[in-house]
Amino acid sequence: MMALTRRQWLLMGVLTLLWGLNWPMMKFTLREVSPLYFRALTMSGGTLTLIAFFAWRGVPLGVSRADAVRLAWLALPNIIGWHLCSIIGLAQLPSGRAAVLAFTMPVWTVLLSVLFFGERMSARSWLAVVAAITAVGLLASNELTALAGRPVGLLWLQAAALSWALGTVLMRRSTLALPTEAVTTWMMVFGSLFFWVTAPLVEPWPVWGQWHAPTWWAMGYGVFLNFGFAQLIWFGLARSLPAQASAFSVMAVPLVGIATATAVVGEVPRATDWLAALCIAVALASATGQAARPATQRQSAAMNRRPRLALVAALDRRRAIGRDGALLWHETEDQKHFRAVTMGCPVIMGRKTWDSLPPKFRPLPGRRNIVVTRNAQWLADGAETAPSLDTALAMASGAAKAFVIGGGELYAQAIAHADELVLTEVDTVFDRADVHFPPFDGAGFVESSREEHRGADATRFAFVTYRRKP
Ligand SMILES: NC(=O)c1ccc[n+]([C@@H]2O[C@H](COP(=O)([O-])OP(=O)(O)OC[C@H]3O[C@@H](n4cnc5c(N)ncnc54)[C@H](OP(=O)(O)O)[C@@H]3O)[C@@H](O)[C@H]2O)c1
Repeated sequence: MMALTRRQWLLMGVLTLLWGLNWPMMKFTLREVSPLYFRALTMSGGTLTLIAFFAWRGVPLGVSRADAVRLAWLALPNIIGWHLCSIIGLAQLPSGRAAVLAFTMPVWTVLLSVLFFGERMSARSWLAVVAAITAVGLLASNELTALAGRPVGLLWLQAAALSWALGTVLMRRSTLALPTEAVTTWMMVFGSLFFWVTAPLVEPWPVWGQWHAPTWWAMGYGVFLNFGFAQLIWFGLARSLPAQASAFSVMAVPLVGIATATAVVGEVPRATDWLAALCIAVALASATGQAARPATQRQSAAMNRRPRLALVAALDRRRAIGRDGALLWHETEDQKHFRAVTMGCPVIMGRKTWDSLPPKFRPLPGRRNIVVTRNAQWLADGAETAPSLDTALAMASGAAKAFVIGGGELYAQAIAHADELVLTEVDTVFDRADVHFPPFDGAGFVESSREEHRGADATRFAFVTYRRKP
């Protein structure tokens, strides 16, 4: 049984329903709206919704020009190819069937990783591939033999799934060190631009006045629920859910698509559709289940790609950092510095430091929050749990840089692995401190930068970086 909080169960259920129902809702909208304008409108509306939400939550979305160019390339398979091919395929096929075909995507990911990136086919990969081919074969035979069959739609949806898979593989291999929020929002910006440029080239300008009210409602579903709300739930869940849980939620999407299509667009699924959907569920379970290999196996591979590790802390002249489970010192400039330094990178902390954060700042936004605890039952929304520092470091693999942000127990264990110390040295001595930063004189670090400041209460402090000697 997966250990999830009640909120996580609820959100996972809502997400699965929203994504599954989206297929018949899109099909419904396509009765009056042409496919490319549909994508242009819903994607740009969804993008604006996300931008507004992130601006309100203070999540930074800024990226460098070089990262923007890389994101534009990544948007090609991840957003443009997937949304373009799937909407054209959906226009030709029943929505439940389209959902089943599109959800062959994780199987394509496995195949691409084997073909181009030298990964091995396991028994589970073979099962996934056979189950997916069976599903596509079942639906293909149906489209080819039925009088009104549209086998071309099937090809479009396989192209969509392949594009999605290529995007996933490229994304996993990318070394972008940006928050997921910024990556997704920018790719959606590029996707929206693509659809706004291409739609007028191939489709007539929509006659807005002829759309009936239910079409506007269905468009609203696409903008606010599918692209906006579901995306936000996904950001929150993807960070904290175990891999099996997200796999289950993805597996159920085509089943929900078929089940709701009768109510929304009056499609009556055939036995082949249900059978194909079950095959896809098996394929997804086998393909995505691989993400849940035993931790030790994943860990040893990941440790080879360990991120650059920095410890970030504010300490007084005696290296004191805390008292009675709280910080010793509060200075706005230091908080801004901490935020700017750690933004976009995984932050690793001890369970007591998580507890010490004010609830409204938990999880720290724009960063993966990894909490180390020996308590296997411990769960918190927005936090990923690690049973040891080693596991936490393995979980952060893939990121260019990760930060240990406290407290004393974690710093003491992590300093041996640290490449860098990012310290705020406060020129004072705090009374009755009970937690300290470990000694680091003579531990192989050299000062590489120092910036002096004076606080609101005239306390002098400095932002100092120490690098491990080569
Ligand atoms: N000035 C600063 O920059 C700064 C920064 C951060 C924190 N702080 C302060 O530091 C204090 C908290 O530090 P702390 O040393 O008391 O606690 P901590 O390091 O934040 O957390 C300790 C907890 O982490 C878990 N843990 C530690 N090592 C582990 C391991 N090897 N494997 C599994 N779990 C492990 C255990 O959690 P379980 O008990 O759940 O098993 C342990 O009780 C607070 O006063 C806080 O305000 C200051």
